[in-house]
Amino acid sequence: MTQWDTATLRQMDFDHYLHPFSDMQDLKQVGTRIIVKGEGCYIWDSEGNKILDSMSGMSCVNMGYSQPALIDAANAQFAQLPFYTSFFKTATLPAIELATLLAEIAPAGYERVFFTNSGSEANDTMIRMVRRYWDIMGKPNKKTIITRWNAYHGSTIAAASMSGMVSMHDKGWIPIPGIVHIDQPYQLEHGLPGESETDFALRAASWLEDKIKAIGPDNIAAFVGEPAQMAGGAVIPPPGYWQKIQEICRRYDILLVSDDVICSFGRLGKWFGFQHPRIDIQPDLVVVAKAMTNAYFPLAGVILSQGVGDVLVNQGGTFNHGFTYTGHPVAAAVGMATIRLMQQTNILETLESTTIPYFNQAFKQLSDHPLIDHAETLGMMAGFVLYQDKAKKIHFPDPQKIAVMCQQLCYQHGVVMRPAGTRMACAPPLIINEAQIDEMIVKIRHALDATLKAANL
Ligand SMILES: Cc1ncc(COP(=O)(O)O)c(C=O)c1O
Repeated sequence: MTQWDTATLRQMDFDHYLHPFSDMQDLKQVGTRIIVKGEGCYIWDSEGNKILDSMSGMSCVNMGYSQPALIDAANAQFAQLPFYTSFFKTATLPAIELATLLAEIAPAGYERVFFTNSGSEANDTMIRMVRRYWDIMGKPNKKTIITRWNAYHGSTIAAASMSGMVSMHDKGWIPIPGIVHIDQPYQLEHGLPGESETDFALRAASWLEDKIKAIGPDNIAAFVGEPAQMAGGAVIPPPGYWQKIQEICRRYDILLVSDDVICSFGRLGKWFGFQHPRIDIQPDLVVVAKAMTNAYFPLAGVILSQGVGDVLVNQGGTFNHGFTYTGHPVAAAVGMATIRLMQQTNILETLESTTIPYFNQAFKQLSDHPLIDHAETLGMMAGFVLYQDKAKKIHFPDPQKIAVMCQQLCYQHGVVMRPAGTRMACAPPLIINEAQIDEMIVKIRHALDATLKAANL
């Protein structure tokens, strides 16, 4: 397959290829795992290990690897027209068709989309749009964006500022002005003794109101949140939280943005994460990316509600914003093929009737492991907390170190999870079947046993 052996590739990798979110010295010591093949729910590394990819790449290969319809769509578009721009009053067929298809699968009232290449760019685009919206509405002071600690919205300067990851802020002179944070709705961290889930939901939502009052509603453009925070460790909001957030946004005339980059295209069982019954909101703008093309080609976008779209289009004049690859025809062709594949295979119906309930009951059983507690799922997203002493709810002194070790042991046992602070998370492909879910749980259990042993408890 390749002229290089793994050791040579690892050396070339260290010498030349800078990895995202990585300590290169640490990477050199551990040795890069080089992935050479994917099929269905599995990936293979250069040493021949077959691994169940229960992270769907980066929560994006929702329909699995090696989908011929998507590869064919890309090849056909490469042959027909590999690129043309959407600047200068031109467009390509796939870009128009995908925009129309997105309006078709979205709930009524979401008619328009602006395409970008990544979720980060889409979030930057969203900020420019909401600020432009308020300028047009004659409220130019409404500029501040409110997001949450431990959120992830991307790595460009504005998206990293919106992200509530302190380790990112430390290293980049961010957040930039005009972006502020409130606490996340994570009851394990912020709940009070004896507080019900409902009371916590209302209290967590009230932090938004407190922030609005402190800054002044006339200065705030939007509240932005992920329906559930995958990168933050699969933090699942309590019921009622999002509905209260929406009520507060409406009351103070603040736009509500769903960063649906991970939660859409079936991850929570619906086309969009904000449609999940636990979330159930009508955002003013929706940020999408990742699984829109099953991650086979970079593509992201901002979907606008009728209210915002009409203002920007009918009253906004020229929106001086865009990217060379906005609406890239091959990306759009793969996006269309992905949505068509999801429709043809009735994946959302299978998720609701079979996969999600099975995954939920199987994953929850992990809570009986001595290291972990609160194994929980929302749709096809799942996470748990790693405890040093779970009876007393004591975390490890260096939780990140244990979580990263657990991640490596997961790989060694043929399964993928991602670490996030005190938590471990996963998001398997939506096409996973019951036998594969069982296999995944057994492998995670083996990795947890190995973590327990390595942690010397
Ligand atoms: C919720 C959310 N928003 C935005 C992004 C950034 O997307 P990208 O990595 O495509 O820039 C991510 C990436 O994981 C994400 O999870």
